[in-house]
Amino acid sequence: MGSHLCDRLLKNGADVLCVDNFYSGTRDNIIHLIGSPHFELVRHDITFPLYVEVDEIYNLACPASPIHYQWDPVQTTKTSVHGAINMLGLAKRTKAKIFQASTSEVYGDPEVHPQEESYWGRVNPIGIRSCYDEGKRCAETLFFDYHRQHNLEIKVARIFNTFGPRMHPNDGRVVSNFIVQALQGKNITIYGDGSQTRSFCYVDDLIEGFVRLMASKNDVTGPINLGNPDEFTIKQLGEIVIQMVGGKSKLVFETLPQDDPKQRKPDISLAKTTLDWEPQIKLKDGLEKTIEHFRKIVLK
Ligand SMILES: NC(=O)c1ccc[n+]([C@@H]2O[C@H](COP(=O)([O-])OP(=O)(O)OC[C@H]3O[C@@H](n4cnc5c(N)ncnc54)[C@H](O)[C@@H]3O)[C@@H](O)[C@H]2O)c1
Repeated sequence: MGSHLCDRLLKNGADVLCVDNFYSGTRDNIIHLIGSPHFELVRHDITFPLYVEVDEIYNLACPASPIHYQWDPVQTTKTSVHGAINMLGLAKRTKAKIFQASTSEVYGDPEVHPQEESYWGRVNPIGIRSCYDEGKRCAETLFFDYHRQHNLEIKVARIFNTFGPRMHPNDGRVVSNFIVQALQGKNITIYGDGSQTRSFCYVDDLIEGFVRLMASKNDVTGPINLGNPDEFTIKQLGEIVIQMVGGKSKLVFETLPQDDPKQRKPDISLAKTTLDWEPQIKLKDGLEKTIEHFRKIVLK
């Protein structure tokens, strides 16, 4: 997502300083920007303070897929919590507006459906997903405390499943997993019976939401849901991918991991009214571009 945001901000005429420790990201995703006079890259871990001059901060740093965030769960919590403290400290010093990439995971395994922003969530505090979910919840707390205590201008987005080109082929997210398996002619692995639902937002739609939220009036703090409300079962997604990629892959079913939410769908009424934003790109159109990307890297 960060690389797409860099593209978009540069297109809008901004000077962009991209900060990444490449924990789950790769230089390949921003290599086309290196050499651009308006783009700088700093290899830095945001769990340590950062001293730069900026007027807007988008805090997206955090491993986002379960494989990556569960690999070093302590570092995941540190990135969310210490990272938020460091970025908020930077915003305070430079008087910058600051955006937080929060997540639908703050709703946990929800009892209400679809989830609206006023829902407080149902999160297991000691499970294997907690390093991510609770880290992001604590980051939200920090954002609102800095806002109340230090008058910081904050913008908190709760992002639902997003996909698109430049995803890591082995990060275990459902869209990339299914596409890579289908391209390799392997069977498509579904955890559980595939009846659990997700909604999938194409990355360009989401970035449009980020930019609109950052440009919104001072009193718009969020949290605000950004995602695509079109809901699909995981089984349906598997079938669509097989049909679009072609080949002989079949669906195979395995045990559902701990704390996997059964339903996930954003209520985006607030984003519609506040930002005049809603996704424009249909699942199949987004999948087509994503399959094209994976074809280049998986089949080379
Ligand atoms: N993709 C989704 O569906 C989704 C959904 C909800 C929220 N989000 C949030 O959006 C943000 C971006 O997600 P993404 O899908 O692009 O994931 P990603 O893993 O591709 O990107 C995260 C980036 O943060 C970097 N990073 C990790 N720890 C860092 C640290 N300590 N210091 C500096 N950089 C660090 C990684 O190297 C990577 O480039 C994340 O905060 C994620 O939690 C994503």
